[in-house]
Amino acid sequence: MSVLPTAELHLHIEGTLEPELIFALADRNGIELPYADVEALRLQYRFTDLQSFLDLYYSNMAVLRTERDFADMTRAYLTRAAAAGIRHAEIMMDPQAHLSRGISLATCVNGVASALAHSEEEFGISTELISAFLRDEPAEEALAVLEELLAMNAPIIGIGLDSAEVGHPPSKFTGVFERAHEAGLKCIAHAGEEGPPEYIWEALDVLKVSRIDHGIRCMEDEELVERLAAEQTPLTVCPFSNVRLRAVDTLADHPLPRMLERGLNVSVNSDDPAYFGGYVDDNFAELRPLFGLTDNQLRQLAENSVRSAFVTDARRRELLAEIAAWHSGR
Ligand code: HPA
Ligand code: ZN
Repeated sequence: MSVLPTAELHLHIEGTLEPELIFALADRNGIELPYADVEALRLQYRFTDLQSFLDLYYSNMAVLRTERDFADMTRAYLTRAAAAGIRHAEIMMDPQAHLSRGISLATCVNGVASALAHSEEEFGISTELISAFLRDEPAEEALAVLEELLAMNAPIIGIGLDSAEVGHPPSKFTGVFERAHEAGLKCIAHAGEEGPPEYIWEALDVLKVSRIDHGIRCMEDEELVERLAAEQTPLTVCPFSNVRLRAVDTLADHPLPRMLERGLNVSVNSDDPAYFGGYVDDNFAELRPLFGLTDNQLRQLAENSVRSAFVTDARRRELLAEIAAWHSGR
């Protein structure tokens, strides 16, 4: 069975650090990890909520020291993503999580970007880079990092908002997003993962984002669902992530089928695949039999990702043609 060609729009590159790579990078950099071996580290991958994941996610980043480390992490993701059917990837990174450890912006941005620069020829995957800001840190800090990214002419297409959601509404970052819009950057934000539907309204109306990451809690607000359906706002849904972070009880309880039924523009993404049990193909492999997804529905999900991607019309046509070819080959 051929793999479904699709775009991945919701991926944190630091969330692709597999335990084996964490140990290899620790070894290379002379860092002692607080785990005896890969298995002991893997045992930590049990989360009770978003914060319990974030604690491990930030702590494991200690192994990323050099440009080469960032490049190796990125290439490892692209290698796996190619096998998962990813044909275009829009990749978020968290510069503040590295700056706070004394790693320069140039080191992390150039490291990731150097791997992305060869992605089309090496993996056949077109890519874009997005700088995400940590919503549980002050907005002034995010603005300072954004200014530094602009000053160094960093190869980013846009900005996002991630980390601990509850208590940090989108409106806290109004100034940062105004600056990003003014600089011609695309704007996206996590909203409605753990936070309430009001945060989705704010991300749309105050930050004026063009995509919502997660957004699953929109289903609690009928007026919001109607608006998102009418405007076809992209919602980058991450089923494995929602189960692992206990936003939903089990995969069978995931709102994805109901979201599709309501005509929402949803796509399937992996978020932090090393931590949440798999990549986009793994998500589809479980979702498909569980919900009895038809080939038409799989095509719809892949087409949603492509029509929501920040690509040229020409690239969009190419990607849609690949999906159509997959469908006609079924
Ligand atoms: N949610 C919020 N912040 C994050 C996530 C997520 O799923 N992954 C990495 N940072
Ligand atoms: Zn995310």
